[in-house]
Amino acid sequence: DQYWEEVKNWTPSSAEEVEIYRLKFLVSKGILKNLFEEFKNVSVEEKRALGKVLNEFKQATEGRFNEFKDQFSEEQSKAKPSQDLTLPGPGFEFGARHPLSLVRKEIVEIFKKLGFVVAEGPEIEDDWHNFSALNFPEEHPARDMQDTFFIRKQAGNDIALRTHTSSVQVRMMENGKPPFRAIMPGRVYRNEAISARAHCFFHQVEGLYIDEGVSFADLKQTLFHFVQEMYGEGTKVRFRPSYFPFTEPSAEMDISCTICKGAGCNMCKYTGWVEILGCGMVDPNVLENSGIDAAKYTGFAFGMGIERITNLKYEIKDLRLFSENDIRFLKQFESET
Ligand code: PHE
Repeated sequence: DQYWEEVKNWTPSSAEEVEIYRLKFLVSKGILKNLFEEFKNVSVEEKRALGKVLNEFKQATEGRFNEFKDQFSEEQSKAKPSQDLTLPGPGFEFGARHPLSLVRKEIVEIFKKLGFVVAEGPEIEDDWHNFSALNFPEEHPARDMQDTFFIRKQAGNDIALRTHTSSVQVRMMENGKPPFRAIMPGRVYRNEAISARAHCFFHQVEGLYIDEGVSFADLKQTLFHFVQEMYGEGTKVRFRPSYFPFTEPSAEMDISCTICKGAGCNMCKYTGWVEILGCGMVDPNVLENSGIDAAKYTGFAFGMGIERITNLKYEIKDLRLFSENDIRFLKQFESET
């Protein structure tokens, strides 16, 4: 009877009190089990009446426990904010294409429409493909034009990080037969102090077109078309004579400043013109070095820096932004495709 009262009046106010109840009545050394142990010792006559009471007590004790359990597990889940299913889920952060990737893609698209295919080559290059085959004589000062990162210095067999994508021209000509019409995007390296205007690596797109009867007029028209597509109709171009060991004649191409439209700005240094690429007719020596009959074939080549093209398109004034991975810079290109 004493236990009946206790079970009936037990009103726990916390999950801990439910646990105390369980430990008192329901575990294997608890009151319920003890009563059943004692039950074994009573006489047969008493067993009848007592057995009934004992079973009722068992059901009541266990029943109360289940009630308590439900009550407190419900309250607990209500208190836990992480289980509020009406809260919105955590948001996703979407990345954006890097501006250099955007512009490389755009350059590739323009030339693809003219029938150029895309080719690639290694960034670690030997002396032959980066210099010698491109008509840079041994010990010639032109090699100093490009501050090279050497990996291995060994007479006539240097290994270096490529200083330009022109090495891919050589590989293409060595491994195939003319005609060639390809562009070759890639990363190049030069040992220069890092500043707003120079970096130890940057990106180029090389172009090569070799066939019978290709002339400088083809070169001019192709690049003129590229500029109209890239910067809009009416962008002017001009060619200045220049020098590269692998082209003859050689030129640098300027475009009318896309930032100030000739009004004068820092980008064009108040001249109205900005240089965007080097180009020229492939030197016959280069063709012969790669096993191509220079009496039969002619061609042109050009090379542009993707950073420069991008700076002019998006008015970016510091090269370092491209490699700093600053999310505030990169986020500005989210809407571009
Ligand atoms: N390779 C040259 C450079 O890096 C660019 C160039 C490419 C010039 C092809 C002429 C022809 O400066």
